[in-house]
Amino acid sequence: MSAAKPAAEGSHLSALLRIAPYLWPKNETELRIRVVVALVLVAAAKAANVLVPIAYARAVDALAPKDGIGAAITVPVALLLAYGGLRVMSSAFAELRNAIFAKVQARAGRRVALEVFEHLHALSMRFHMDRATGGLSRVIERGVRGIATSLNFLLFNIIPTIVEILFVALILWWVFAASFAITMLVTIAAYVAFTLLFTNWRLRFRRTMNQTDEEANTKAVDSLLNYETVKYFGNEGHEARRYNESLTRYERAYVTSETTLNMLNAGQACIMAVGLTVTMLLAGSGIAAGTMTVGDLVMVNTYLIQLYLPLNILGFAYREIKQGLTDMEQMFALLEVPAEVRDAPGAVPLAKGPGEIRFEDVRFGYRPDREILKGVSFTVAPGKMLAIVGPTGAGKSTISRLLFRFYDATGGAVTVDGQDVRSVTQASLRAAMGVVPQDTVLFNDTIRYNIAYGRPGATDAEVEAAARAAQVHDFVLRLPEGYATRVGERGLKLSGGEKQRVAIARTILKDPRILILDEATSALDTRTEQEIQAALRDVARNRTTLVIAHRLSTVVEADEIIVLQDGRIAERGTHASLIAEDGLYAEMWRRQAQAVAAAEAAARAQAEADLDRPRTGRLGEAIA
Ligand SMILES: Nc1ncnc2c1ncn2[C@@H]1O[C@H](COP(=O)(O)OP(=O)(O)OP(=O)(O)O)[C@@H](O)[C@H]1O
Ligand SMILES: [Mg+2]
Repeated sequence: MSAAKPAAEGSHLSALLRIAPYLWPKNETELRIRVVVALVLVAAAKAANVLVPIAYARAVDALAPKDGIGAAITVPVALLLAYGGLRVMSSAFAELRNAIFAKVQARAGRRVALEVFEHLHALSMRFHMDRATGGLSRVIERGVRGIATSLNFLLFNIIPTIVEILFVALILWWVFAASFAITMLVTIAAYVAFTLLFTNWRLRFRRTMNQTDEEANTKAVDSLLNYETVKYFGNEGHEARRYNESLTRYERAYVTSETTLNMLNAGQACIMAVGLTVTMLLAGSGIAAGTMTVGDLVMVNTYLIQLYLPLNILGFAYREIKQGLTDMEQMFALLEVPAEVRDAPGAVPLAKGPGEIRFEDVRFGYRPDREILKGVSFTVAPGKMLAIVGPTGAGKSTISRLLFRFYDATGGAVTVDGQDVRSVTQASLRAAMGVVPQDTVLFNDTIRYNIAYGRPGATDAEVEAAARAAQVHDFVLRLPEGYATRVGERGLKLSGGEKQRVAIARTILKDPRILILDEATSALDTRTEQEIQAALRDVARNRTTLVIAHRLSTVVEADEIIVLQDGRIAERGTHASLIAEDGLYAEMWRRQAQAVAAAEAAARAQAEADLDRPRTGRLGEAIA
């Protein structure tokens, strides 16, 4: 992930401010009530917690033998019951608070994740080309988890603990003496300072540990994904060595991280022990002087130990909050990325027209320093077919991307039915067009789902009709699971030709006004190609069609053919006129015709050889 730059400290606050509206959602009274109740419960749990040592201390005092035995036997029972009740309340409130707040937190996570997801889809092709998709989904995942952890620790751990500390300090001051409160506060201040400094110092080991862990993981995954390649080259030993190197680094980082954690824990325990001892000394001298009871000593002791528990995880909470806020920052940073291609203000839906496409002196480059299209002009009349041919990398697929408005041209204009594609809504523009792309990628779902994707809501009969038109129906029926067959990630379980036919069926089902076929049949063998060409001709009839092809035999019938070379239109005309011109196209045609002839000759020779061999065999036998 390239965006892993740690967010600045100051922006942590902004991450918290961004999440606030999700926690206090408009028009969702139920969630707001839950927030309030959860906060009240936190306060109640803490209040019960603060009262526990008081009940405990008074019970101890009541139990301590004074003048006679048994005089006070009824009083401690009530106090002990109160003690027990308060303890129960303290933890019951905490659990109840968790249960009530869970929905608020889950809802906030869901809404943020959805918002980021929708935004990612709104972002431009350029953005997605530059990003690793796996990385993006991890940013969302980590961001949502970050919301949960930072909220939980901040709202229900850190802030309540601070409040509790202040309360206890007040009680100690009020009931006993300032020295108790001051000792406690100094102890806690030293504890917190030590923990934060130490944790900050430790973060680097933790980071190395995470990094080396990730590195080892990536290597293992990459190596297993390339299972075939590893075997082809017999490089198992090499892979194991690389993996082991990463594992060794992880091992070292882990040990350092653990050792420093133990140091942190030991330091924390020392500070607490010193604080406790000083307090006990103070209390002991108080008892000796007769100003305090044994119960008082127990109470002070209990307070400190009670505070010690939440403080114990302070280092962990600090790290988690910091990490959580950073993750949230990164996720929200995605929301800040502006979409490059956006509907113009006041964009209108594409008006229904006959489907004329026009490129007027279009210039475009993916990067400013390399222009791909250097002034391309052509018009496809409604219902006609334009073929674009030319060497690889000439910019043919780029033309279809501009038509779909995945990018905006840097010069000139692309119009559909006289409307500039930049002035209409992207949704209406794309609804009017269908494409069979060069590299078909399918969803990891069933064949039926993938075909129906062309028009969600299509009936099974419609899906099958489209499949028939794309010559894929019979193939599907031969599969054990038929249309319910899953195609694997990106459609990997289908052959290239099968995938391409599913893509054709999907576009046939969409039934667009304008059709773009980018090497739509390149992955098919010649016979299937001829069959599908026939089907595609049917589909293309009366539709404006843009055909991009390497195999020139498939574009012979186009109304116009343009030869794209080096970002410019080198030649244009019909097949006959271009052959007559005897230029680039004629040259390409001759070369392909030669190749076809050579292939046919080879096939004929093979067939003859096949016929010959058994004959000679039999002849030989006959002679023998
Ligand atoms: N996202 C991108 N970023 C940068 N350069 C790109 C990008 N996509 C394509 N290109 C470059 O633009 C040029 C034109 O690409 P395009 O896909 O239009 O070629 P093409 O004519 O369709 O080739 P082919 O016949 O091989 O499909 C190529 O040189 C390619 O490297
Ligand atoms: Mg291409």
